[in-house]
Amino acid sequence: MTDSKDSIIEVTDLTKYYENLLAVDHIRFEVKKGEGFGFLGPNGAGKTTTIRMLTGLSRPTSGRASILGFDINQHLVAIKHHIGVVPEISNLYDELSALDNLLFMARLYGVPRDQRRERAEELLKIFGLDDRKDSLFGTLSRGMKRALTIAAALIHKPEILFLDEPTVGLDVVAARSLRNLISNLHQQGITIFLTTHYLEEADLLCDRMAILVKGQIIKIDSPQALKALAQEESVIEFSFGGEVSAFLKSLAARLSAVRIVAADLNKVRVYGGVPASIYTEVCKFAEESHLEILAVNTIRPSLEDAFIKITGLSPTVMAMEKGAK
Ligand SMILES: Nc1ncnc2c1ncn2[C@@H]1O[C@H](COP(=O)(O)OP(=O)(O)OP(=O)(O)O)[C@@H](O)[C@H]1O
Ligand SMILES: [Mg+2]
Repeated sequence: MTDSKDSIIEVTDLTKYYENLLAVDHIRFEVKKGEGFGFLGPNGAGKTTTIRMLTGLSRPTSGRASILGFDINQHLVAIKHHIGVVPEISNLYDELSALDNLLFMARLYGVPRDQRRERAEELLKIFGLDDRKDSLFGTLSRGMKRALTIAAALIHKPEILFLDEPTVGLDVVAARSLRNLISNLHQQGITIFLTTHYLEEADLLCDRMAILVKGQIIKIDSPQALKALAQEESVIEFSFGGEVSAFLKSLAARLSAVRIVAADLNKVRVYGGVPASIYTEVCKFAEESHLEILAVNTIRPSLEDAFIKITGLSPTVMAMEKGAK
C-alpha cells in the first residue's frame, strides 16, 4: 500500500473484534481523492463495521486509519467537517418535516445561519423533494426517505460521502434514480465510499472495489479488471430443440475437461475449453443424439461471475434479498 499524496482515506491493518468475534480482520486499502470506491461482500462480511469505524461510530480494536491525513482515533471532530455519512438506517427524525430535518442537520454541522435555508432548499430541489418539503419524514416513501438522508449528509458540502447500502429495499426505479444522483455527485468530484452487495451498483458507481469476505479483503480492483478475470474462461450456451436432462451425462462425458451446466430445460452452458472444438464436439453429439441445435451463444461474463470465481461463494449468497430488513 502506498502513501501517495492524492489518497484521501488510508487504512492499515484495521481490525475489529466484538468480544471473540473477529468482524474486520487487518484490512488495508486506500481511496484516492475523487474516487468511487466500493466495499462488496455478502451479509456479515464486515462492511458496516468498517464504515462505522471510519466515521467514528465504532472504535477499532487495532490498526490505523486516516481521512485527509487526520487520524480517526485522534481527530474525529476535524474529520466530521469533511465527511457525510448515510447510514443503513436513516438518522433523520420522523416527526420533523423534510425541510426541518435538513435545517436541523445544517445547524448540527455548523453551516452558517444565513446559508442554512438556501442550502436546504437547493438540496431538496436536486433530490426532487421540493414539493414534499413540509411532509413529515415519517410519512415519506422509502425511496424519498433514502434520498433525503443522502441530502442531509451533503448539507455541509463534504468532500467524502460514505454510503452504507444506499439502495437496499428500494424498487428498481427508485434505486436507479438514487444511483444516478450518487453518480452525479461522483462526477462533481466528491469521493464516494459505498458498501453494497449489488454488483451492478458497484459496476456503475465504483472506479475500484474491494471484495470483503469474513472480515478480510480478498481482492481490490476495478470492476472492468474483475470482469476480465471471469472472461479468461469462455462460456458457450447451446439451445436445443428438446429437453436436455437425459443427455447431460453423456455430453459431459464427451467433453470431460470442461464444466457443463443445464441453464434451462433445453439449454446447456459449457464453461472453459477451446470454443471451436467444443462447438464441433457438441454439433457431432447433437447429430448422433438426434437433437436439433436452435442457437449457440457466447455469454459475456458478468461481474457476478467474477465475484463467484474470486470468492468461491455461491450466487445465492449474493442474491440474498435484504429488502425486508
Ligand atoms: N454491535 C455488534 N455487536 C456484536 N457483533 C456485531 C455487532 N455489529 C456487527 N457484529 C457482527 O460483526 C460481523 C460483521 O457485521 P457487519 O454488520 O459489519 O456486516 P455487513 O458486511 O455490514 O453485513 P450486511 O451485508 O448484512 O449489512 C457480523 O458477524 C455481525 O454479526
Ligand atoms: Mg451492513
